[in-house]
Amino acid sequence: MSFGTPLDLNGVKIWKGALDPAAQAALVEELRACLAQAPLVAPVTPGGRKMSVRMSAAGRLGWVTDRRGYRYEPRHPSGAPWPAIPGGALSVWEAVSAWPAPPDCCLINWYGEGARMGMHQDRDEGEFAAPVVSISLGDPAVFRVGGVEKPAPSKSLRLESGDVALIGGDARLAWHGVDRVIFGGSALLPKGGRINLTMRVVRD
Ligand code: SIN
Ligand code: FE2
Repeated sequence: MSFGTPLDLNGVKIWKGALDPAAQAALVEELRACLAQAPLVAPVTPGGRKMSVRMSAAGRLGWVTDRRGYRYEPRHPSGAPWPAIPGGALSVWEAVSAWPAPPDCCLINWYGEGARMGMHQDRDEGEFAAPVVSISLGDPAVFRVGGVEKPAPSKSLRLESGDVALIGGDARLAWHGVDRVIFGGSALLPKGGRINLTMRVVRD
């Protein structure tokens, strides 16, 4: 892993190419084992809208959404416990988070062709002193960051496989989203698509 001086996107720190191709491939293998235990689900917002991203999680808690609301749960919707957070993701957390404990959740977002994520804030954690640390794998995506108070004005940047982002400090509650994925733009995942991991500390 290589963490030099990060780029700044409205206060979000971005390390381009932090994971080399071998580290990316090793992390994908760890994630395959996670997803065998906790399969991706197509989540629904509390308002009943089907999200285009498919999700699973690893760690003590997983973020879920359904008609009952957005929340962290100790189990996959199937009732099974979440798998342990992959070691390759924990190493990134240790390198950049400056937080003295491991994250409680590693959310696993899978973007197929046409998937996107609307502008939002990550607020369900209840702990805003700790950052959210993101790892991108597979196809590139246009990542957008606005302000803490409102989503616009915003700036965007292409997140590519192996890039790490830290949403923390004064930007911890920054609005952010994914405009689109450049499907097939990376060879890491043989069938295309993008995986984004976000590690979070959750206050009970
Ligand atoms: C998220 O905000 O949960 C996802 C960010 C990303 O996919 O890069
Ligand atoms: Fe987010």
